[in-house]
Amino acid sequence: MKNKTICTIGAMDCEINKLKDILSDIEEINYGKFTFFKGRAYDNNIIVAKSGVGKAAGAICTQILIDKFNPDFIINTGVAGGLKKGMQIGDVVIATRLVQHDFDATALGYARGYMCNGIKPDKPTYFYPDENLVKKFQSALKSTMPGLRYHAGTIASGDVFISDNKKKQELVELFDASAVEMESGAIAQCAYLNNIPFVTIRAISDLADDEASKKLTFTEEDNANLSAKTVRLFLSLI
Ligand code: ADE
Repeated sequence: MKNKTICTIGAMDCEINKLKDILSDIEEINYGKFTFFKGRAYDNNIIVAKSGVGKAAGAICTQILIDKFNPDFIINTGVAGGLKKGMQIGDVVIATRLVQHDFDATALGYARGYMCNGIKPDKPTYFYPDENLVKKFQSALKSTMPGLRYHAGTIASGDVFISDNKKKQELVELFDASAVEMESGAIAQCAYLNNIPFVTIRAISDLADDEASKKLTFTEEDNANLSAKTVRLFLSLI
């Protein structure tokens, strides 16, 4: 793949720093209160964006990326809390679908996560990443990081840091979710509404359990770097 425009988006500095490092001819561009780093890597135009934490920040930053840089596709990267049994800190999750777990119109008789959009009101609303990108990511990881444990599954997003065994279990039961974080469901919604392909890849930094808030600080930076590394490998191979 050559001379494509690829936007990467992470919420925090630790999630984007190792991607900024790969850019040559780097240019810093500001729109509103967001800073974007534009450069060249692996024969493509790459824009690295930091959205800030949470669904609104993720969606606004994605809309600016789309309007100002006209990307061929978007890669969302960073850390997540592991939910399903067997998920371990340091594993990687590639999203096969995304849901906003805190979208709650259950008082009106709808399913949790149903976004009042007229589609299947008895089911949560899922957004689907580009199948081709998901497949390419999987084969990039298989060929370049043979020891890596990675999963393909549902990622649930909400404006809440989950550090609670009961809430964690609820997300597994309601959405069959493998991981939880705070942006990708909204980034996915924004990409979907603009007809832009996207993919989300996250490294597990905690297990979203009663202990998660205490343990996160020890593992967040390493796993943010791991997630960025998978994106670099992907970009080097496509
Ligand atoms: N990002 C990383 N870990 C998380 C958690 N436990 N809940 C929400 N977002 C997260």
